[in-house]
Amino acid sequence: MNALILAAGKGTRMRSERPKVLHEILGRPMLGYVLETLCGLGIRNPKVVIGSGGDQVRAHLDREKKRLGIKPAAIWQREQKGTGHAVMMARPSLARSRDSVLIWPGDMPLLKLSTLEAFMRYHVASRAEGSVLSSLVLDPKGYGRILRAGGRFFAIREELDATEEERRTQEVNTGVYLFKADLLFRVLEQIRPSNSKKEFYLTDTIEVLSKENRRLEAFPLALSKEGLGINSQAQLSEAIRVIKNREIQEHQERGVTFVAPDQTFVAPGVKIGQDTVVYPWCYIESGVEIGKGCRIGPFAKIRKGTTIGNGSTIGSFVELNRSKIGKKVLAKHLAYLGDAEVGDETNIGAGTITANFDGKEKHVTRIGKRVLVGSDTVFIAPVKIQDGVKTGAGSVVTRGSVIPKGDVVAGVPAKSLKSKRRKR
Ligand code: UD1
Ligand code: CA
Repeated sequence: MNALILAAGKGTRMRSERPKVLHEILGRPMLGYVLETLCGLGIRNPKVVIGSGGDQVRAHLDREKKRLGIKPAAIWQREQKGTGHAVMMARPSLARSRDSVLIWPGDMPLLKLSTLEAFMRYHVASRAEGSVLSSLVLDPKGYGRILRAGGRFFAIREELDATEEERRTQEVNTGVYLFKADLLFRVLEQIRPSNSKKEFYLTDTIEVLSKENRRLEAFPLALSKEGLGINSQAQLSEAIRVIKNREIQEHQERGVTFVAPDQTFVAPGVKIGQDTVVYPWCYIESGVEIGKGCRIGPFAKIRKGTTIGNGSTIGSFVELNRSKIGKKVLAKHLAYLGDAEVGDETNIGAGTITANFDGKEKHVTRIGKRVLVGSDTVFIAPVKIQDGVKTGAGSVVTRGSVIPKGDVVAGVPAKSLKSKRRKR
């Protein structure tokens, strides 16, 4: 099976300088969602038609190559003359294939793997030569309409070219298709840009095939949410809502409590242990791992590369970034821990900051077990704080410091109170 992703469009309706398929949903460009779902189907070498902002899109493909271990191939469409024209760009690499080709628009990230699998099964079982994944929607505005005569699918009509009656059709084209490759490229020759947009519409191939009496099917399998095509900022926000709700629901099914799911953002690829409670207004990025029985938030931002051990509390206005937090750690209010390691049962006082960036490089703050960090302590990384240390309120632990086990330090710069006492 070949897969072709259409990602060359300008995305005019986004009113943005950024190529449409690179707009992000919880930290990942929408194109990344499409590639990842294809990966789930076992398709590791999709072809991606690029054009508008093509260099940026190609750079993204390179990143996804590493993340997903795939080999996407970019195909240029220098001028964007419509979806049919975009597919034509793949002729040299696909036209002679005896396989089917799956076409998927890059602005449709919500489609689920299970729906795609069902679509493929139906396509094969019905022996169709061309199939369209359709969706039944309350408001079909903006989508191509699926036209049937006596139940038989024979055309897709774009909204701008549709009659009043055709516009009332609530079965719409998601833009996902399966075609016999050789057949598709043959009929693409015949389509003309004789429509209100003066574009080559991929959707017009259906009518041509229908006139040749080819076997065509439209399967209304996609839920309207999954079939969402993102053309505007409002639709992008809707996609973010759908993705985060899916993630939260999965965590709920594994025993995580969300006090206010609507006010909580959890990116895909987060692990959260059982009986952890997430309070409102938290933002948890991809790759974060949170243990069991933790309390997170309200108002916590937990960024990439962070792990939190069982039974820890990360309270209000705490930001964690690339940090490894042990078990039963308390960081209950107002702190920034970046590139930090915090041992079990350590208490991070309010106002604690790891100054991890010196303007050029990031440095690590290592804090041991059962450390009591006084309010408003600043650690100028790199520093190492051994087990059982206490820092006084307002301490500034300067760069390169190693505070030995059990020591008590205070002041600016922080000095040992114990060794002073010893000297006296
Ligand atoms: C398209 C379909 C419509 C369907 C809808 C589903 C056509 C003519 N219409 O409309 O029936 O209901 O998707 O969301 O196909 N692209 C290119 N090169 C181009 C033009 C577009 O690569 O020259 C890419 C875009 O980047 C995008 C995809 O094709 O990812 C779809 O294009 P878009 O302009 O969003 O089509 P719609 O108007 O949404
Ligand atoms: Ca679209």
